[in-house]
Amino acid sequence: MATESPTADIRIGADAIRRRKRGVPIVCLTAYTYPIARLLDEHVDLLLVGDSVAMVLHGHKTTLGASLEMMIAHGQAVMRGSAKACVVVDMPAGSYEDSAAQAVASARRIVGETGCQAVKLEGGVGMARQIAAVVDAGIAVMGHIGLLPQSVEKDGGYRIKGRTDENAAALFADARAVEEAGAFSVVIEGTVEAVAAEITRRIAIPTIGIGASGVCDGQILVIDDMVGLTVDRVPKFVKEYADLRSVVSHAAARYASEVRDRTFPGPENVFSATLGKDNR
Ligand code: KIV
Repeated sequence: MATESPTADIRIGADAIRRRKRGVPIVCLTAYTYPIARLLDEHVDLLLVGDSVAMVLHGHKTTLGASLEMMIAHGQAVMRGSAKACVVVDMPAGSYEDSAAQAVASARRIVGETGCQAVKLEGGVGMARQIAAVVDAGIAVMGHIGLLPQSVEKDGGYRIKGRTDENAAALFADARAVEEAGAFSVVIEGTVEAVAAEITRRIAIPTIGIGASGVCDGQILVIDDMVGLTVDRVPKFVKEYADLRSVVSHAAARYASEVRDRTFPGPENVFSATLGKDNR
């Protein structure tokens, strides 16, 4: 297995993403590990080390299982595995909501220990002070509005946003607050198309949609959903571009059968006493 990191190259920065408003759609995926970052880097503009890692890789029920240490460890792996993509690391729940000072301290730790290009945090009007303080500290911030995974327990589940006039007005205010606080882009999650379209039209920073239709300036999906590795039900907005569940399951079944009938390891997989060309 290759272990070298990709050679350092010119990375896409947060400012370059900001300039892509109304341009060619911005391609984003989550990534949590070194090998996946290596595979995705050449295809995407932005890799998000999402706090969805707590659910996808660590088996927690919600993203509240993510910690600062967990995000930093996965952020470091993704930075080692990528050379081109703008890498954004999620600020986990509990690391920024209390005060602007807490947000700045956590963001400094994430950027200092991973070298990532930006951090992301959830919330609009209510988190504007935190976003502005982190931006003032010289750290680029991606906002996140609409359905907020860190608040699903408080919200009573995964509820699509923007279905009432009152909620749509709150989302417009959130989008404006995130923009005015200095974020370079904003994720809109689980929001009806008309509202996502109007937000995209009204604000000057790129909107990145997930379950917010194709009208946004870019799209993001959770990598495990996109390649068909998610074992539980996948949301309606996901398109599975591969079926890795079946690939992994069939490979494991063949391996198990070959170990049991002793056809694995075969002659090509064993070492002889004499050194040959393939004998390491
Ligand atoms: O944590 C995550 O994967 C995210 C995406 C859903 C945008 O925040």
